Amino acid sequence: MIPEGCVSRYKVERVVDKRALLALPTPNVTPACQKMASLLMWSLFYHVSVFGFASTTQTTAYSCSLLGHFDPTFQADGKFTIAGLFPLHYWVEMSYWNYTHKPADAQCLGFDPRAFRWAQTMRFAVEEINRSENLLPHHTLGYRIFDSCATHVGGQRAALGALNGPELVQSPLCSSAAPLLAVIGDSGSSQSIVVSDTLQPFRIPMISYFSSCSCLSNRDKYPTFFRVIPNDDYQVKAIVQLLQRFGWTWVGIITEDDDYGRYAVQGLLKEFKSTGICLAYYEMIPKVYDKRKIHDILKVMKRSTAKVLICFSGEGELFPFLKEYIEQKITGIQWIASEAWVTASLFAGSEFYPHLGGTIGFAIRQGHIPGLGDYLLTVNPLRYPNNSVVQELWAALHGCSMQPPAGRSPVSPELPSCTGSEPLLEQYPVYLNTSNLRISYNVYKAVYAIAHSLHNLLSCEPGKGPFQNSSCAKTTSIYPWQVQHYIQEVSFTVSGEEVNFDEKGDSIPSYDLINWQRDTSGNIKFVNVGLFDGAKDAGKELFIEEKAIIWTDNKPEVLVSVCSDSCAPGSRKAFRRGEPLCCFDCVPCDDGAISNQTDSIDCTPCPEDYWSNAARTECILKAVEFLSHDAMGLALTVISIVGSCLTAAVLSVFTHHRNTPIVRVNNSELSYFILLSLVLCFLCALLFIGEPTPWSCMLRHTAFSITFSLCISCILGKTLVVLAAFTATRPGNNIMKWLGPKQQRVIIFSCTLVQVVICAVWLAAAPPFPFKNTQYSRSKIILECSVGSSLAFWCVLGYIGLLACLCFVLAFLARKLPGNFNEAKYITFSMLIFCAVWLAFIPAYISSPGKFTVAVEIFAILASSFGLLFCLFAPKCYIILLKPERNAKQHLMGKGKS
Ligand code: TRP
Repeated sequence: MIPEGCVSRYKVERVVDKRALLALPTPNVTPACQKMASLLMWSLFYHVSVFGFASTTQTTAYSCSLLGHFDPTFQADGKFTIAGLFPLHYWVEMSYWNYTHKPADAQCLGFDPRAFRWAQTMRFAVEEINRSENLLPHHTLGYRIFDSCATHVGGQRAALGALNGPELVQSPLCSSAAPLLAVIGDSGSSQSIVVSDTLQPFRIPMISYFSSCSCLSNRDKYPTFFRVIPNDDYQVKAIVQLLQRFGWTWVGIITEDDDYGRYAVQGLLKEFKSTGICLAYYEMIPKVYDKRKIHDILKVMKRSTAKVLICFSGEGELFPFLKEYIEQKITGIQWIASEAWVTASLFAGSEFYPHLGGTIGFAIRQGHIPGLGDYLLTVNPLRYPNNSVVQELWAALHGCSMQPPAGRSPVSPELPSCTGSEPLLEQYPVYLNTSNLRISYNVYKAVYAIAHSLHNLLSCEPGKGPFQNSSCAKTTSIYPWQVQHYIQEVSFTVSGEEVNFDEKGDSIPSYDLINWQRDTSGNIKFVNVGLFDGAKDAGKELFIEEKAIIWTDNKPEVLVSVCSDSCAPGSRKAFRRGEPLCCFDCVPCDDGAISNQTDSIDCTPCPEDYWSNAARTECILKAVEFLSHDAMGLALTVISIVGSCLTAAVLSVFTHHRNTPIVRVNNSELSYFILLSLVLCFLCALLFIGEPTPWSCMLRHTAFSITFSLCISCILGKTLVVLAAFTATRPGNNIMKWLGPKQQRVIIFSCTLVQVVICAVWLAAAPPFPFKNTQYSRSKIILECSVGSSLAFWCVLGYIGLLACLCFVLAFLARKLPGNFNEAKYITFSMLIFCAVWLAFIPAYISSPGKFTVAVEIFAILASSFGLLFCLFAPKCYIILLKPERNAKQHLMGKGKS
């Protein structure tokens, strides 16, 4: 119903001068005309180029005719007219253009009984509203339903058809009512975008029942767009939550090649970023069937290690793809279906089950429309003899073709003919199953939304209206933008469900979680296994009844789809260069660092006194190590006790035989001293065993140094005596006088005193203390006695060394002196051993680790003590105990003299 004035003017200009198109309008044209004219100008161009209507058949300048057929598939008159756009076919075959003659009309192919049901639902809803006494009483709704052929070209054509009307009607639009108040549709987002662009100039509101693309929530670009389907942003969120729930972090995506697919991927990738899910591959199904491209995609799918595949596509596009998929017998892929195909009956056949069984996805919430089932049964070719779409329905449902009216070719000439009175039975679930109405229910809601808006508009109280000066819309000439205002505000309930639109035209998001399972006949049934309620708080939206789910390949457990297995506690992720973050290697934590969670990115170093356990999962207190009464400690203890006992035994042997010459020779008192100090030497080794405490540390070194000094001093005294005794035998030498027992004691005492003084200074200035050595080993603390002052320590040792060396030198001088029992050579020998032991001690002490340092020290003490004991006393004991006959003065002297 094109406003006549506008059209004629436009045509006149067009015939006169094409350039004048741009010069429109003339001053007396109203703004509505301007818009209509510009639209027509544009749409005719479009038609010329897209549908190929020849402009050679122009009529006279003042009248015009339509250049193609724009008949609605169904229509009914009413006071207020709304249009419905449905993809009754799912693809278009374009005709051949050679620009020399008018190409044939583009052909819509692939009849879709499901979409046909949507269209019938719209009719049903309108008729129900017209019967209703509460909603729009005394007014009737009219409708015009067009086939948009699931393509944007088709959508555009349908929208223009809805706007223009089938033929030229003399209409006073420029001053009165609009021909079309609102549009229900379109289905696919791409189509809705085109339709929205077309309707926008007229501010005609549209309510889509299936366009879910998030792009459509842009109010600046699509100001007249509303929808009763949730925005895909929510679906994307729901899918990501599903992935997280089942630990799928490595997924592939396949989409159709349009806004629906692209925006969904965009949304998914955005969500992936914040949740650590990675994209293994992304492929687009070509819009135009292309076997090679499909094979390439299937190759990618087969090669990928990702086992979960998200697919955003309409069923029409997906069908040929899935056919190939099944032909290649691919299994083991967990499909996540988008709302566009998750309940598509096209795939419900038994041949799909082995490959697609277990598919999961979010579907639009379902609703119940009482009476729709019966209504659908009333549609048959006899009732609509000229409606080719109804005939196609018959062909699709009964596999037969109606005899066409004379002059027309049959819809499907290859099928057997049918009468049109064939019963429509429940066995045609695609069309007749009204138990799970999802999109149909959306259509129903959309029609009701318009009806309620109109109702509200008509119930406006004068003077309290929403428009300028609180005015209401004029009932006789309602403008579409006024209807839009009421749609934006509308709020009502259908079957207990609230319907309203937010400021972007979106509705409340909620989905059912659908799982594809096998029914008794081997076909696929769509089982509800959960829901996503976008109205709930974040994180609580998704509810899944996990037990009810049947997975791909009938597997009982959830399939795993990860790029790399997660890293156990004790190791960390090492990302692979150039690969997504989900692909990584696991490297064990270093010594002293731990990770106590799975998939740690870093290992945390343990605090100072702690160390990692063997599994690197916990920090444990470092082991404190010192020489305790373990095997080594015990052995050393036993040796030192044995040593001291042995020494005591020797002492008792000596006291027992104190009157025998061999004891008495060379000052027996010194021998007792030596033996006593040796007992102490042996015993002081015990001080080194056990946990170092401040006292034991101080005691250790001082006791050791003093007893050893005492011991060596005594030996030194003895050497001096030997030296003096033999030198004294020479005439004129009275050195013995200076080395009487008293002097000997003084020498011993003073030599020892020096050491005592050194020790006292040491203790006073920098006493040894227990020290936790964490440097030597990172994994344990070595509890040792720090010497406090190394200078003092080496002084003490040096002093003992000095005494020993002195002793050695003197004994060495005396070794050749006569005497059957010359002790000097034994002393020489003992000092040699003593010095050797302590010289060997130095490098061993410096290089041995941990508690072995102490063990080395004890060993040196014991070895040198045993050295002294054996060298000095073994020969004497041997004579005393085993060779008593040699223990006689004569023997000792005689031999010596000879
Ligand atoms: N929700 C989808 C969309 O917004 C529905 C859809 C995808 C669709 N592909 C289609 C509908 C093809 C009809 C035809 O686009």
